[in-house]
Amino acid sequence: MTNTNTSYEKAVILKPPLKWAGGKRWLVPHLLPVWQRNNNRRLVEPFCGGLAVTLGLMPDQALLNDFNQHLVNFFNQVKSGLIIDFPMENDKELYYQYRDKFNKLLKEGKQHSAEAAGLFYYLNRTGFNGLCRFNQKGFFNVPFGRYKKITYRREFSPYAEPFRNWSFQSQDFEEIRVEQGDFIYADPPYDVDFTQYSEKTFNWEDQERLGRWLADHKGPVVLSNQATERVVELYKSLNFKLHYLDGPRRISCTGERTPAKEVLAVKGIDEN
Ligand SMILES: C[S@@+](CC[C@H](N)C(=O)[O-])C[C@H]1O[C@@H](n2cnc3c(N)ncnc32)[C@H](O)[C@@H]1O
Repeated sequence: MTNTNTSYEKAVILKPPLKWAGGKRWLVPHLLPVWQRNNNRRLVEPFCGGLAVTLGLMPDQALLNDFNQHLVNFFNQVKSGLIIDFPMENDKELYYQYRDKFNKLLKEGKQHSAEAAGLFYYLNRTGFNGLCRFNQKGFFNVPFGRYKKITYRREFSPYAEPFRNWSFQSQDFEEIRVEQGDFIYADPPYDVDFTQYSEKTFNWEDQERLGRWLADHKGPVVLSNQATERVVELYKSLNFKLHYLDGPRRISCTGERTPAKEVLAVKGIDEN
C-alpha cells in the first residue's frame, strides 16, 4: 500500500484531458480501497475511454486499451510530448474547417499522426457534447458544440509523468495480452446504452463474451455495468460477487431524474 495520499491528490488535480461519454470519475472513491490493496500489480483497462478511472487510481504500470483508435492515438501522442501549435477557438467556421482537415487526414491514412491527435483534441473539446461519431463512410460528423467558454490546452506535460509507464493499445478487448497477476478493471459500454461510443456497437453477445473472458482471468477482476437483470444474472452465473451502487442521476424519457442502478462484479479479491 504505497503513496495512497499522493495518488488521491493527483486524482483530484489531474482531470482527464478529453470529454468522454460514460466517464466513471464518480466510481473512483469506490474502487480506491480495493485498488490500494493491489497497487503493486499492473492495472489493465480493456475499455479505458477517457481515462477518468486510470487517472483516479494512478497505477505505476498500466495497459490501457480502447477500440477507438483516435482516442488511443491521442494518448500515444501525448505520451510522446504532443504540442498543439494551430489556433484554437470556440468558433463555428473554424470548427468545420478543422473537421474537414481531420477527415482529410483519415482519407490519406494519416490517422495515427500528431496532427490528427491535435485536431481530435480540438474537435472533442469544441464539438457537441464531446461526442465521437462517424458516418457510414468512416468520417467524423459531430456538429459544432454549444459551449460558452472553452479552455484549451496546448501542451500536456502534466500527463507525461504518469503516461511514461502506461502503454496504450487499440483493439477488441479479447485481443489484449493479459498476464495472470494483472488487476483488470473493465468498464464496457452499458448493456442498455443511450450513447454511441464508436463505430462498433457492443451488443449482448459481446457482453457475454466479456463475462467469459473476465471469468477466465486468474488475477483480480472488477467489472462495472448497469445493473440490468441479464447483467446481474450473467455475473452471478460466473460466480462473481456483486455490489450495487446508485449511479449519477440521469434524466429518463419521462423527464424523471432517477439514479441508474450500477453493479460492480468482483472476483479474485480479498475484500477484508
Ligand atoms: C463506458 S466507456 C469507458 C469509460 C472509461 N471507464 C472512463 O471512465 O472514461 C466504454 C469504452 O469501450 C470502448 N469499446 C467499445 N467496444 C469495445 C471493444 N470491443 N473492445 C474494447 N473497447 C471497446 C468504447 O470506445 C468506450 O470508450
